[in-house]
Amino acid sequence: MAFPENFINELTERNDIVEVVSSYVRLSKKSGSNLFGLCPFHSEKTPSFSVSPDKQIYHCFGCGKGGGVINFIMEIENLSFPEAVEFLAKRAGLPLPEETNDRESRRRARMLELNRAAARFFYEQLSTPAGQAACDYMRKRQLSPSTARSFGIGFAPDTWSSLTEAMKAKGFTEKELAEAGLVRRGKSGGVYDTFRNRLMFPVIDVRGNVIGFSGRILGDGEPKYMNSPETLVFNKSRNLFALNLAKKSKCGYIILSEGNIDVASLHQAGFNSAVASLGTSLTPEQARLISRYTDQVIIAYDNDGAGIKAAQRAIGILEKLDLKVKVLRLEGAKDPDEFIKLKGPEAFRKLLEGSEDQIDYRLRAVTEKYDLSSDEDKVAFLKEATDLVARLPGAVERQVYAMRVASMAGVPENVVAEEAQRRRKRLLSSARKSQEREQSRVDRPPGGQRSLRYSDPASAAAEEGLIRLLYLEPALAKEPSLPPPELFSQENLGHIYRCILEKLRRGDSVSTATLGQDLSGEEMSLLVSLLQKPELLSRSRQSMLDYISKIKERREESSQSSDLRALANKYREKKGYEG
Ligand code: GTP
Ligand code: MN
Repeated sequence: MAFPENFINELTERNDIVEVVSSYVRLSKKSGSNLFGLCPFHSEKTPSFSVSPDKQIYHCFGCGKGGGVINFIMEIENLSFPEAVEFLAKRAGLPLPEETNDRESRRRARMLELNRAAARFFYEQLSTPAGQAACDYMRKRQLSPSTARSFGIGFAPDTWSSLTEAMKAKGFTEKELAEAGLVRRGKSGGVYDTFRNRLMFPVIDVRGNVIGFSGRILGDGEPKYMNSPETLVFNKSRNLFALNLAKKSKCGYIILSEGNIDVASLHQAGFNSAVASLGTSLTPEQARLISRYTDQVIIAYDNDGAGIKAAQRAIGILEKLDLKVKVLRLEGAKDPDEFIKLKGPEAFRKLLEGSEDQIDYRLRAVTEKYDLSSDEDKVAFLKEATDLVARLPGAVERQVYAMRVASMAGVPENVVAEEAQRRRKRLLSSARKSQEREQSRVDRPPGGQRSLRYSDPASAAAEEGLIRLLYLEPALAKEPSLPPPELFSQENLGHIYRCILEKLRRGDSVSTATLGQDLSGEEMSLLVSLLQKPELLSRSRQSMLDYISKIKERREESSQSSDLRALANKYREKKGYEG
């Protein structure tokens, strides 16, 4: 355990799960002692997310996620276990234990310190003679010294070891530099600077930590960008470039663009809510991160085929989180940076204000895919465009767009309108069916649907029961006839059981908090869902013995039956039967 157990216990006592969850989810009382709300981890219309004040756990009957208060914060704030602990400690005004013996969190802190020192080193290079090349390049790209300062933009000199030497002088080791991705190992075992002769953009997370770097070549050449590798502190899919700045913007929307230069240039022109993903396409985690700060996203991707494709993917991801999405049309420029250079910030602001909503954008994207003078293309266009119309929520909207599609394809309006109507009916009925399926899953006892997937449901039910008992009544861990985890038919249940048993036998307490570091997110959800089933504690010892004998009996049967199978196979081979 990285944090002392009594600290974790105090932390969870001081962070009541109902209070914590309530600041993200509207909870209302529905049945029994549980509170219900709309699940923040998947999109739904009827609440299947429950919080138990007694057990201090949450569980979603829809998506299966569950855990204690620490798991909730990990999930919703995108944090690691130690980060979530820190977050909750701050929330409760609880000081962190002085000397956490957590090796990982010390390594993490050390790497952040190194990254910060490296960022400072790169920044300082701008005022040296060697840094003039970078200053020239920035001047050429019209990035001002004050933009460089607010982003912390710097320069990695064109040498093999400037950074290494400077960081060693500050007491960092080659190993630490390598783990942070700042140096690479050569064939002879020595190290050399990863970033050379590049304009350096530090990637800074929302808490102000320098977590990695993105280095652009000065001018043309390949590769244009080099990014830090994934490290202990750098996860590309969970962070966004410049969100540390954009989150402070008051403008009410986030501008999502592609390039670092675009972002810097947008901020410089006054559009201080621009961010970019880190050289990959937008991920659901990044979308979730964005949704913490705004409910509207304006996509300003490059004006090329790849940009349009990426925008369409991003729309899908963002809309799942109920974010309003608009897309900019950067006519006459390849990207936002060039647009602002050519037409000025005012033109960009007009673009933002008038930016297409995603229906126009999608329709235009469909139109551009086809050559409407060819009959074949026209049919394909009508199919796709009508489908788009059918999915629009408002009747007036459907009418308007049906007209537009019809006139584009040169067919009578009622053809499109009627076809869209038919499609819509089909869509609605299949949506209804899948909702009914969802509903019946929600109504079924929790865990029921999942246990169907167990290879041996009878044994798994007993395994679940045993886990539940041990969790609720730790004294039972003294029972000598408890089976070893290897006897479990289900590996994940076996692992949960092993972790609980080990803790109890050491005299530690078990809770979702103390198990948080040993179990994967899925195992935690599984544990929480099986804890929801009732267990009669009045006869707990007897139930335990029943569960144990069930598990042992099933194990014997299964080994017998595999013995029998083996025997039969042998026999078959002897007699020369065909299998
Ligand atoms: P310019 O406008 O051309 O100066 O650059 P930009 O900063 O706008 O970047 P661009 O639109 O070319 O690329 C968008 C993003 O993709 C960059 O910010 C990088 O994160 C990533 N990227 C671009 N080129 C490369 C590359 O060669 N390697 C890697 N790993 N990522 C790249
Ligand atoms: Mn660009």
